Amino acid sequence: MIKIALKNIRLLEKISKIPVLKHFFILKISENFPEIKSELVLNKFYGDIWVNDKTSKKTEKNRFSDLNIPSFELMKENKNCIIHDIAVSNGISSNDFNKFLLKKKKKHEFYISDKFAEIKIKKGFITKAYDNENNLIFAYAGCFYAADKNIFFPLTVLLFKLIQKTEVPEKFDYNLLLLHPEVLKKMKKNEIKFINCDVFKTDISEKFTFVRAMNILNLGYFNEKKIKTAVANIKKSMKENAVLLVGRTNAKKINNASFFRKQNNKLVHLKDINEGSEIKNIILNL
Ligand SMILES: C[S@@+](CC[C@H](N)C(=O)[O-])C[C@H]1O[C@@H](n2cnc3c(N)ncnc32)[C@H](O)[C@@H]1O
Repeated sequence: MIKIALKNIRLLEKISKIPVLKHFFILKISENFPEIKSELVLNKFYGDIWVNDKTSKKTEKNRFSDLNIPSFELMKENKNCIIHDIAVSNGISSNDFNKFLLKKKKKHEFYISDKFAEIKIKKGFITKAYDNENNLIFAYAGCFYAADKNIFFPLTVLLFKLIQKTEVPEKFDYNLLLLHPEVLKKMKKNEIKFINCDVFKTDISEKFTFVRAMNILNLGYFNEKKIKTAVANIKKSMKENAVLLVGRTNAKKINNASFFRKQNNKLVHLKDINEGSEIKNIILNL
């Protein structure tokens, strides 16, 4: 069935829409991902996962095309931009931004990060996937879907809770890097560099000239105190005069975002896109 699906992209696209089969296929076809050309399949398989801190891995190609030009305008003064795109999920929107800057012949270094870029797999009668903090993300038994806390079918939720109570394996069979094949190609050429960063914990000092944090510091995900901690961390990682872009894509796919500049250890508001970021006041009162 898997071999047939791999040769037949339409079938794969149909499977990717079935929540109960999706995770099984993520693991079974993961080594073939570099050859898969269907964005629909890649999007479902890489992006439609909920991680433990309530954030999803949802992302999309060309999600931030309206933010590219204002970002570029604010980068102009800087001859060699050092960019950090935080919490990028599979990184496809970073790839878009990198391509845009290359087209504009803007000299830059591009770093991406995501706390949950990698998942760890333990094979068995019940195959389980864990994040890097050993939280169960999903599991399946045989070729049947077993458990995902975010598909609100009572049996799947119950199974998830039961499997969650079992011991975390000491060793895993393999790790799966949930980055888009196009991003992996760029990483091989050193055009995009992956760094480990937990936005609440990782301590980086005055390295970046442009930081983008889209769809991570949302009030729906984290409370004000946590957001303050994250923004303080990000601010520390920025050089003097560096620019920060923060925002959230709403249900209508509109990007409500704000730009800030670091000046005298403060983040000064520069401009809003659409309604601006919902955490603008938190940032200004930091
Ligand atoms: C909704 S996605 C945003 C993806 C992309 N920035 C976009 O807007 O299309 C949120 C991402 O945040 C990551 N994430 C969650 N907690 C994080 C943390 N503490 N530090 C860094 N990344 C985190 C998740 O793994 C997920 O991929």
